Amino acid sequence: MTANPFQTRAHQLLPSILSADFAKLGAEIDEVLSGGADFLHLDVMDGHFVPNISFGPPVIKAVRKATTAYLDAHLMITEPLRYAPAMVAAGAQNLTFHVEVVDDPAHAAREIRKLGCNVGITLNPATPVERIWPALDWVDVVLVMSVVPGFSGQKFIPDVLPKVRAVKQRLRPDQRLEIDGGINADTIATAAEAGADWFVVASAIFDQTDRQAAIRQLRALL
Ligand code: DX5
Ligand code: ZN
Repeated sequence: MTANPFQTRAHQLLPSILSADFAKLGAEIDEVLSGGADFLHLDVMDGHFVPNISFGPPVIKAVRKATTAYLDAHLMITEPLRYAPAMVAAGAQNLTFHVEVVDDPAHAAREIRKLGCNVGITLNPATPVERIWPALDWVDVVLVMSVVPGFSGQKFIPDVLPKVRAVKQRLRPDQRLEIDGGINADTIATAAEAGADWFVVASAIFDQTDRQAAIRQLRALL
């Protein structure tokens, strides 16, 4: 388990609780963190930016009580600045917003940072990578989406790999490159070769009967 993922350059494995059993979330979290995962990815969806609704601050707060692991929140919502304070108050430590929903991404990043958290920016597979450049100096993490966001269990889109490489070239050593969507035993090594540091995994961990074996296998491929 990783308390501050910016203190290490090692590859980090982030289970997304989107595919966990919410009726026993605490046990699900314990299982993956004691089984070798590093910290947690929290997929917040508002039913507007993406055609699905997941959870918001009350669930983040419950997760915060269940673990001391670092909490990485992926905000798939149309108004990240409106809801960011509630996410931080609930215990999220990194807030990643989508470039598609803001007019001025550098401003959005600076506003979120004022809340005392880390800041990430992300982009959909169809969004040109140039859109994030104005915010690059102001973020800690760049998340490259490798599926169209909204649902777990989709197929990795290899067309985003050039974007991963382009971002990697521009990042400072203190910044991290995250990839999310369709990461499994067939795709994780390719994503790592392209330069990803943090790997979000929902179905390839939580949908497996032996989650700890799945984590071991993914880690062995890094
Ligand atoms: C997609 C979410 C992802 C998703 C990943 O909208 O942002 O974090 O849960 O799921 P898998 O790993 O199953 O592709
Ligand atoms: Zn996500």
